[in-house]
Amino acid sequence: MVDTENGLSLGDQREAALTRTARHVLAAWREFDTAREHESAPSAALHRFLASDLPRGGSDVLGVIDQAAEVLDSSLAQSRPRYFAFIGSSGLEVGALADLLAHSYDTNLAVDAGAATELEWQAVKWLAEFIGFPAQTGTFTSGGTISNITALASAREAALPGARERGLAGARPTLYCSTEAHYSITRAAEVLGIGSAHVRGIDIDAQRRMRADVLREHLRRDLADGYTPVAVVATTGTTLTGAVDPIDQLADVAQEFGVWLHVDGAYGVPAAAAVSRAHLFRGLERVDSVTVDCHKWMFVPKACSAVLVRDAASLAKVFAHDEAYMPHAGGHYNAVDITLEYSRPFRALKLWMLFATHGANAVSEAIERNCRQAQTLYEWIQDRPLMESLPSRPQLSIVPLRVVVEGCADPDRHNDELCAAIQRDGRVYVSPATIDGHVWLRPCFTNFRTTSRDVETLLDVAEELGASCASLHR
Ligand SMILES: Cc1ncc(COP(=O)(O)O)c(C=O)c1O
Repeated sequence: MVDTENGLSLGDQREAALTRTARHVLAAWREFDTAREHESAPSAALHRFLASDLPRGGSDVLGVIDQAAEVLDSSLAQSRPRYFAFIGSSGLEVGALADLLAHSYDTNLAVDAGAATELEWQAVKWLAEFIGFPAQTGTFTSGGTISNITALASAREAALPGARERGLAGARPTLYCSTEAHYSITRAAEVLGIGSAHVRGIDIDAQRRMRADVLREHLRRDLADGYTPVAVVATTGTTLTGAVDPIDQLADVAQEFGVWLHVDGAYGVPAAAAVSRAHLFRGLERVDSVTVDCHKWMFVPKACSAVLVRDAASLAKVFAHDEAYMPHAGGHYNAVDITLEYSRPFRALKLWMLFATHGANAVSEAIERNCRQAQTLYEWIQDRPLMESLPSRPQLSIVPLRVVVEGCADPDRHNDELCAAIQRDGRVYVSPATIDGHVWLRPCFTNFRTTSRDVETLLDVAEELGASCASLHR
């Protein structure tokens, strides 16, 4: 039982609780090594338990740990090798250990936390070196959305100095990104006072990449009309298809007009470290800021993103402040002077432990493997008569596919229903997406545990269920 002298300590149950937790974690890690054939649905007893009232008294921690493990086992886990939906992650083992350590100490990276602050800076430098971006500064955030907002806040201050104090009255700021940029860019425009109506969605080319010539025209027109361009956002790769905007060409245009160039690489920029994909990221060294979601393709558990910035002063220009409760010892900035957040967990530790344990080469090889899986899937689709792919090869690790059965009256409805049927079936997990008005299955490979056999299973399951679903609405 819980120690009654100190009601919130585990007291003499500590070792047993750690051992029990470790047993569950070990079982989960072993299970994640290979795919399971069906998802485990919550039992009736678990449903009842999850509807129970607030417990006023405590209960045995070992039982509570078992219940927590049962909840997790009955939930979708992105760590499983056949989780192909959205942009998954991997729950990297040393990342999970890092979280346990960091949360136990509950280090707060809002202010100088000693060695943890030094480590955060080292992790920023390692990450910047890994992707090939010469960052002078950077910080860890809770996700791509916050990293994008952070970078674009700096861009806004650079374009409209003093906007943080005066607001945007009288200014006419604009933002530029491809029509397939992530919604977080629109959200950034809204929260930064730019306004979503002033986000210019730039046309894409046949490979779904932002067109630099169209961007140039928009900038020319907007400047002539008295707008102030805040930033161009290049997406590398897009959430829908993994398209990588041409950074080098966009950097030429941004330079020509003196506009901040931000790379939203939340999903794809780690692929800059993969030999076969590096050419797609040419020009990365020229941009002003980069978002990298380490909880996507750097494999560590959520939440861990980073925003990397070229100019050391730019984050402080928008976030530095003086408050009586936040002294600047020795005139140094605190982390709160260069970040959007105040209290910040020690997110950098999991990325640091990834590099320290496995080395950068193993990380780039895992990314390379995911890219190869995407290429292989694309080729396999061409050999399966029921399957369709997009016209161009995957640039990163997203491979939209459709099952089209001859005589099927409504292929979009069919693929929508197929996706739901695949999710119910449970052998693989994939999400749908609408591309040019049509419904596709949109697998994405960002898990180091995924094997080529898992990829083949996706195709087999889609074909098997796709052929039978069709009979519903022929
Ligand atoms: C390109 C891109 N940017 C930003 C985000 C938002 O990232 P987060 O969910 O970590 O806030 C995503 C999420 O999938 C993304 O794909």
